[in-house]
Amino acid sequence: MFLSYGYMLTKKTAAGTIDSVDVLLCVSGILGSPLPLLDRPTSEPDPSEDIMNVFTVNVEGTFNGVHAFQDKIRHGGKIMLMSSTMASMETATHTLNPAYSIAKAGLNMLGRKLAVELKEREIDVIMMSPGVVRTEMNNGKGDISPQQSVEGILRELSRTGTSGMFLRYDGQGWPW
Ligand SMILES: NC(=O)c1ccc[n+]([C@@H]2O[C@H](COP(=O)([O-])OP(=O)(O)OC[C@H]3O[C@@H](n4cnc5c(N)ncnc54)[C@H](OP(=O)(O)O)[C@@H]3O)[C@@H](O)[C@H]2O)c1
Repeated sequence: MFLSYGYMLTKKTAAGTIDSVDVLLCVSGILGSPLPLLDRPTSEPDPSEDIMNVFTVNVEGTFNGVHAFQDKIRHGGKIMLMSSTMASMETATHTLNPAYSIAKAGLNMLGRKLAVELKEREIDVIMMSPGVVRTEMNNGKGDISPQQSVEGILRELSRTGTSGMFLRYDGQGWPW
């Protein structure tokens, strides 16, 4: 069974209704402001609040989901945290979407920590970059369709020996 969860308040309730999960897909996320952190116009979200809001949804929200469902994930099962190429330290040579990048980098570290913690239970934790996908998040301006992204993600998730890794939908990986 593949399980993708929604809003934070429903997670514990949902977890109580499910017996066993093969793959937990942690997908929810928000973008925050695209503008640089310093010298932002006052009409834009305050940078400090922006960082906290995006971090709350993208990192804390994801953790709450994993926490609620952890006992339901079977031995040999997987958790996928939806990351982004924007999480990468190595390729962060631009000012775009700072709160998002900060939070996705934090999400990657969350995944690394969980991968170590869940090793004994034989649960793999994978951080996935889905590509630039045509969704509401980018007003449909992505390079690939959701179907192309999901097909690639499922292919990558079927690989073994990838726990703790940062993977990309097209199998090319991405630098931390
Ligand atoms: N699109 C891309 O090119 C791209 C690239 C890299 C990574 N990603 C990542 O892929 C994931 C999905 O993004 P998307 O492109 O499908 O964006 P999207 O169309 O904006 O979908 C965002 C999803 O997150 C959920 N969500 C938002 N705020 C939430 C909250 N406070 N609590 C629980 N759920 C919440 C939304 O639920 P509702 O619809 O119910 O509000 C929706 O299902 C995100 O983690 C995003 O960072 C996307």
